[in-house]
Amino acid sequence: MSFLGIDLGTSGARVLLVDENGQPLGASERHYGVSHPHHGWSEQDPADWIQALEDAVAELRAKFPQFSALKGIGVAGHMHGATLLDDAGSVLRPCILWNDTRSHVQAGRLDAMPQVRAESGNIVFPGFTAPKLEWVRENEPEIFDKVNKVLLPAAYLNFYLTGEFVADMSDSAGTSWLDVGKRKWSSFLLDASHMRADQMPRLVEGSEAAGTLRGELKSKWGLSETVVVAGGAGDNAAAACGIGALNAGQGFVSLGTSGVILAARDGYFPAPETAVHTFCHAVPERWYQMGVMLSATDSLNWLSRITGKSPSELTSGFGDVVKRPGSVRFLPYLSGERTPHNDSEIQGSLTGIGSGTTTEDLTRAVLEGVAFSLRDCFDALTATRAQMDSLMAIGGGTGSRYWVALLASVLGVPMQLPEGGELGAALGAARLGMAASTQEPLDQLITAPAVRETVEPNVDLVDAFAQEHQAFKAAYPAIKAVQ
Ligand code: XUL
Repeated sequence: MSFLGIDLGTSGARVLLVDENGQPLGASERHYGVSHPHHGWSEQDPADWIQALEDAVAELRAKFPQFSALKGIGVAGHMHGATLLDDAGSVLRPCILWNDTRSHVQAGRLDAMPQVRAESGNIVFPGFTAPKLEWVRENEPEIFDKVNKVLLPAAYLNFYLTGEFVADMSDSAGTSWLDVGKRKWSSFLLDASHMRADQMPRLVEGSEAAGTLRGELKSKWGLSETVVVAGGAGDNAAAACGIGALNAGQGFVSLGTSGVILAARDGYFPAPETAVHTFCHAVPERWYQMGVMLSATDSLNWLSRITGKSPSELTSGFGDVVKRPGSVRFLPYLSGERTPHNDSEIQGSLTGIGSGTTTEDLTRAVLEGVAFSLRDCFDALTATRAQMDSLMAIGGGTGSRYWVALLASVLGVPMQLPEGGELGAALGAARLGMAASTQEPLDQLITAPAVRETVEPNVDLVDAFAQEHQAFKAAYPAIKAVQ
């Protein structure tokens, strides 16, 4: 038996094949771009996702004969994106992504409506799905009128795989249409943004079956037996499943395109008066909370573009030993910010530059700025009593050992680096595919990896970073006043 995890990320799709014990057999990846037709816009053509998936699967099939014993699939996707389909199931316009801020006016309006936060458990952020549809209604009414279904990116892949409109709870929690506590579509929230229940996909838990792989794909992929497709998950819930974070006390810090600190919760403890996100987990009767900063590795990528050096070239000379905070300060608000500011208009800044400032100084400033922004997320989470005694460090940015050590000292919490290369959303998605297909108990499938190394905070620097974090926080209102 084998199982497939699909991670539909912002920069590419990764497919991971695991065996009946959940051990990775092999993976393949294809990249695609994001288009920014106007300032603050961020879009993708869903046809690029399908092409990437098909190409990655073709490579897996060619390399791993075990693919022919496929029994289950799970999809994880970047969250909040609005994929609009007409009544023939055709895509009406490019998908509007999670980091698109065009609908900040609509988000503010929905967010100010009485009971909206209480019912959804969250602020209506501009990146969430409901305000995107309000924007489409106001600016592209001819498209809005044709919307038969709104699918999140992972649910769109579920549709491609099964022919059915099905979404999981964890991803749907980020739409501002779900009653996150009751885990069902809210007619009140749908009404508030001029949507109807029949435009929503059917809801299942991430670990339940959404359907089975449709016949045409089965023959194309050389499969003869039934393949169950799980509900799947938003990428953060899937990443939590990849590192076994289902229960209170477990969580991670992720250095991906966005930066996330996630804490699993045993119950529903919304904090909608704050910019903490409270979402359903991908398994029944579990929730999680997270703080999200929008430009983590994206900030380093920005520096990489303007310096002409790759992110690893920029960070490779830093070694393992954390230095005191540098004199250049970077505010990483390149696409606005969610936690803690909920401010889509704020722009980033670099201060403290002199004629002697080097590329190395700028790189340090970027790593520190992202770490301070994650400290803001951490503080917002601890204020909701989320428990985080140690955190697993995941995501592409953890390739920099310096960044991980810096995070430990800035957060004042040990960082666990997991053993093995295959973790995160693709593995979590594969585990959900296994759960839906085999019905094995979740706590046996969704387990924590062995820890390769625990990176402790540098006690001599914790105070210096705490002080610099205060200065970083004070820079936000100052920069807001002049922008
Ligand atoms: C979470 C969020 C991002 C995306 C992209 O709310 O917007 O983390 O899921 O990965």
